[in-house]
Amino acid sequence: MEYIISQKSSSLKGTLKVPGDKSISHRALIITSMCIGTSKIDGLLESEDVFSTMKALKSLGVNIKLKDKSYFVEGVGVCGFKTPNNFIDLGNSGTGIRLLLGAIMGSNITVNFKGDTSLSKRPMERVLTPLRLMGANIISSNEGKLPLSIEGPKEVLPIKYISKISSAQIKSSVLLSGLSASGKTIFIEPNESRSHTEKMLSRFGAKISSKMLVNGSNLIELHGRPNLISRSISVPSDPSSASFPIVASLITPNSKVELHDIMINHARNGLFETLQEMGAKLKIFNEKKVNNEVTASIYAEYSQLKGLSVPPERAPRMIDEYPILSMAAACAEGHTIMNGISELRVKESDRIKIVSNGLNKVGIETIEKTDSLEICGGPIRGGCTIDSELDHRIAMSFLILGLVSNKPIKVLRSSTIKTSFPNFFEMMLNLGSRFIKG
Ligand code: S3P
Repeated sequence: MEYIISQKSSSLKGTLKVPGDKSISHRALIITSMCIGTSKIDGLLESEDVFSTMKALKSLGVNIKLKDKSYFVEGVGVCGFKTPNNFIDLGNSGTGIRLLLGAIMGSNITVNFKGDTSLSKRPMERVLTPLRLMGANIISSNEGKLPLSIEGPKEVLPIKYISKISSAQIKSSVLLSGLSASGKTIFIEPNESRSHTEKMLSRFGAKISSKMLVNGSNLIELHGRPNLISRSISVPSDPSSASFPIVASLITPNSKVELHDIMINHARNGLFETLQEMGAKLKIFNEKKVNNEVTASIYAEYSQLKGLSVPPERAPRMIDEYPILSMAAACAEGHTIMNGISELRVKESDRIKIVSNGLNKVGIETIEKTDSLEICGGPIRGGCTIDSELDHRIAMSFLILGLVSNKPIKVLRSSTIKTSFPNFFEMMLNLGSRFIKG
């Protein structure tokens, strides 16, 4: 089985630009496919997850071409997808499947979807329930999980949907379906989740607005059947990918790392705020607006971190960053408690369980509860093997911890990193990480 070994490294230094944002890359491909006219996408994340979405769109009849590092997407309109010849395989991509289930709703076609072993274990009922209310006919032999077949209705019904979970994937699936409804679709989530779909749809000409309700919930209102007009998109760098070299620099003595053009959407920057509260020497500067999103440069230098309690309402703003935050917490002085994180149990793996068990293996004490994890910082012993369980963020997190571990940490099935950060290994080597591939 393939692996990467990570060993104690003396210092990490350098300037880097991490690849394009995964969430924006999926949305760029899907929304430009639903436009009228040809759109140009620059800086698209060329990773396995994004290629799964691109391949799916091609089998739904969309023409996508690569020319001089730019992707050109010929939109088919909001209701123009064609019946594919075969099953569409979304591989490992939760964003790809959940957004596409909504996007195909208006085309009145039947599509069969499947995924890899990790994706086939993940809950889809959370998007199937609102899509059924909008008129979908869904058949699944695996308790609402993949593989499944979805038949879009003749008329998509506009709905008002109150979600119990703050999830950008559920929200985006309902909004993409709402594009073809003959009326207003309203979606309410307990706390604001990432808002890339809303921002991109607004830029492409949809009538869409959001407001915060008195109880703190986020309400989005979308008018159906817009003519989405093609535009160029430049995808900013992924803050979730950036978090790996940033935390590596914060925990490895004598390190200084600078990153550029990182997207810092408010609903994505919870980790940076938390690290600053832990005492991180982390500066965010040079803010710019790019296609309705804000980007900035980030400087991170080795810091003595202190444990803290992370409030539950921050979870949607850093939902993908708990594994790497856990590595920072393991190196911090004192205890870190992460509350309200039960959603981590249904990511690419059960991230609470895998992080907790993995930290115990490297010599760190943890207390795992259904929706929280407490980590007691201390010396990292290492000298163990961690299986990624096909979860890219688990693989990268434990490789970062290996940089400060007394004995090496070996991560099995590390090639899953290709789903989100294809050049992670090379970028980390350039900064001075002692990684070995096997
Ligand atoms: C994503 C939303 C989040 C996140 C995932 C990407 C998106 O999932 O964990 O990696 O692009 O919409 P949830 O919507 O399940 O919280």
